[in-house]
Formats: sequence, C-alpha cells, structure tokens
Amino acid sequence: MANQFDVAVIGAGAAGMMCAAVAAQGGKRVVLVDHAAKLAEKIRISGGGRCNFTNVNAGPQHYLSNNPHFCRSALSRYTAQDFLALVKKYRIAHHEKHRGQLFCNDSAEQIIAMLRAECDLGGVEWRMPCKVAGVRKTDGGFAIDTDAGELLVGSVVVATGGLSIPKIGATDLGYRIATQFDLKLIETRPGLVPLTFDGPSWEPFVPLAGIALEVEVSTGSSKGKGARGGHFREDLLFTHRGLSGPAILQISSYWQPGTPIVLNLLPEMDVADTLIGLKKTEKKQLGNVLTQWLPARLAEGLLAANGFDATARLADMADAKLRALGDAINRWAIVPTGSEGYRKAEVTLGGVDTKGLSQQTMMANNVTGLYFIGETVDVTGWLGGYNFQWAWASGVAAGLAV
Ligand code: FDA
Repeated sequence: MANQFDVAVIGAGAAGMMCAAVAAQGGKRVVLVDHAAKLAEKIRISGGGRCNFTNVNAGPQHYLSNNPHFCRSALSRYTAQDFLALVKKYRIAHHEKHRGQLFCNDSAEQIIAMLRAECDLGGVEWRMPCKVAGVRKTDGGFAIDTDAGELLVGSVVVATGGLSIPKIGATDLGYRIATQFDLKLIETRPGLVPLTFDGPSWEPFVPLAGIALEVEVSTGSSKGKGARGGHFREDLLFTHRGLSGPAILQISSYWQPGTPIVLNLLPEMDVADTLIGLKKTEKKQLGNVLTQWLPARLAEGLLAANGFDATARLADMADAKLRALGDAINRWAIVPTGSEGYRKAEVTLGGVDTKGLSQQTMMANNVTGLYFIGETVDVTGWLGGYNFQWAWASGVAAGLAV
C-alpha cells in the first residue's frame, strides 16, 4: 500500500536523513517527511556554508544535558571516524580547521548530497514539502496525519530539531509529540548565541564593535556535584549589541540569566604584577602602556569604564589602583542583559528528557516504536562540529533499532 511503511522519520535534517538512510539500507520501508521546501537548510548554512561536519575529538565531555552520560553509548558506537569514512567514500575534500573541527573545503551542499544519496541507496520515499498535523497511536503502530494524506507506519522517529532559526523552518512539533505521549521536557533555551548588554555600564564599550581578541571566559562553578560551570579559551568579538565570537557562543550555553560571565582579556599575563613591576623603569602614560598588549580602542574603553585617566603616568599610580586595573583586565565580571535569542542561536538547549529514552536505541521507554533523535533531545554540543556528530550518532542508533 502506498501509504504504509515500516518507519516514518519526521524531519529531513541531519539526524533524520542519517536515520532514514541507515534504516532503509537495513531493509526497512522508510518514508521521510519534512515541511520545508528546501532540503536541510541548517546543514547548508552551517559552518559559514562549509559545514563543520564533525569533531575528531568528540566525546561525552563536549555535551550539555541534564543526564550527561546519556550520549555516551550512541557516540561510542558511531564515531567521528565513522562519519569521516563516509565523507571520504564520497570523495568530499575537507580539512581540519581548529581543535579537531572538520570542514568541507568547498560547500556544505556536498554533505546534503551525500546524505540524500545514502537515502536513495536504501530506497527512502520522500514526502516533502509536507506538513504534519499530528501523530496517533494505532493497534499496529502509528498513523501520521499530513497534508498529503494519512501515513500508517510501524515506528515513528521524531527528528524535527530545536527552536533555533525559526525563519528556516524550526518548530516545536517534536516537543508537542513528546508531551502528547507523556514524555517530560527539560526547559528549552537558546544556546551558542551572542550575548547582549545595555545600560550605562555598557556605554563605553559600544564604540568597540568589530574588535576581536583571544580571551579566557568562564561562568558559574565547575566544582562540586551537579556543577554547571564552563570555561573556554577562544576568540571574543565586540558587536553593536554586545559580545559574540566563539568564546561567547561557547559560554552562552552555560550562562544563567542574572549571573556574570568573567573575561580574562590577557590570559598570558598577570596585568597587576606586570604594571607594578614596570613602575620604576617605565616612563610612559598608562594608555600607551596598555596599547602594547591590547587593541588601542579597547584599552581606552577599559580605562574610561573603570575611571582611569589614560594620560596618567604609570610611575605615579598607587599599587592598589594598578591592582584594581589588573582585576578589570584579568577578571572582568559582567552580567549580560540577555541573548540574541532563537533568531541567532545555533542550537536549542534542553528538549526531550533523556530519562524517558533508551540510550542504546533512542526509543521512548513508555511507547514502543516511538523514537527521538538529534537536537530535539536534551543533548547539546559545544561549538565545533559536536552537534552534527550527535545528530549522526543518534540517527544511526535509532536507524539500526527501528
Ligand atoms: P535539523 O534542524 O537539522 O532538522 C530538523 C528538520 O525538521 C528540518 O529539516 C525541519 O524543516 C524539519 N521540521 C521541523 N519542524 C517540522 C514540522 N513541524 N513538520 C515537518 N518537518 C519539520 N553544528 C555543527 O556541528 N557544526 C556546524 O558547523 C554548525 N553550524 C551551524 C550554523 C548555524 C547558523 C546553525 C543555526 C546551526 C549550526 N549547527 C552546527 C547546529 C546544527 O545545525 C544542528 O545541531 C543540527 O542541524 C541538528 O540536526 P537535527 O537533524 O536534529 O535538526
């Protein structure tokens, strides 16, 4: 029958295409349903159009979840090397950019074409663009109501992703299906997102838009049971509305509203000790000393924001004042007003509570035949190819199990 399948995968993104290909190549009759007009837009725009498709170092320590061990099984059964083998089989030229991050040399389109070819190899049937109105349990499995008619299937894999970038088709369908079948949700919030600042204390930094430098950034506490702290050394970028760059995207996933992030703008140097040590020999003005180490506009902004006169001579400054300046540079604690939200977030934190899912198969413990994979699940990776690796690994885990 044209509308009967062993498996329906809802969402033809990274996780959904991988899952459909694996299930179909394993002999299942698979239908892949997506409401978007264009296939896998998130892969297309990822990594600046070159798709950071995995990270060779990916391990459970690179993921945030209420249940940090949940991702271990899938990640160890389908590794970055496994995905790389597929990329090599399709002769997609690639390179390592930074800390194990693998990118296409040419275009993210090649990853989409590869996944599509893998689906075609298994004979996956496509329903796209096709809206899903709902999923119902039937005696033999599930009925999916779509605007192209009803689909009757043995199993359903929900791969509709998170809430990030609604303008390219993100919806909450996955969370609604989970709630309908009595699965719990972990509260969602934007992750890997620029942070915003406003108010008088931020005014001196508004003109610094465009300045970039390598920093250390931290938030929360990484010590103790259940600790949720993060610490990264990456590039920071001043923007018109606040802070961005890899350092900020990484820390945003750990940041809790109302709490500070702490920046070390000169991680190689104890600024207070260095300035005090230089007092006897250095004749320069304070502003000129700092511009040896920091971009000039940033040095000026920091001095103004902390009430220092850039023209004061270093030799005339009290040690206590230099210690305060050192703190402002090595331990700059600032409370973001908010974030750029789902409009700009690369990922959605939270999602389907992993306590209700099998870590081997991704199937719901309470509903035989219902699976959740990819970003819909409460597993969120760091910046750097980790999120796609979770999409591939969880997709394969479900694809082999359905
Ligand atoms: P994904 O979002 O890929 O797919 C979900 C699919 O479900 C979509 O095709 C959507 O149309 C469909 N869908 C949603 N609602 C539906 C509904 N109601 N009915 C039918 N279909 C529906 N990660 C990484 O590792 N390396 C990188 O370089 C980047 N870069 C990057 C850049 C930008 C700008 C963003 C926004 C994100 C990234 N990411 C990334 C993150 C990465 O894109 C993301 O984690 C994965 O795409 C998640 O894969 P999923 O398959 O779970 O969702």
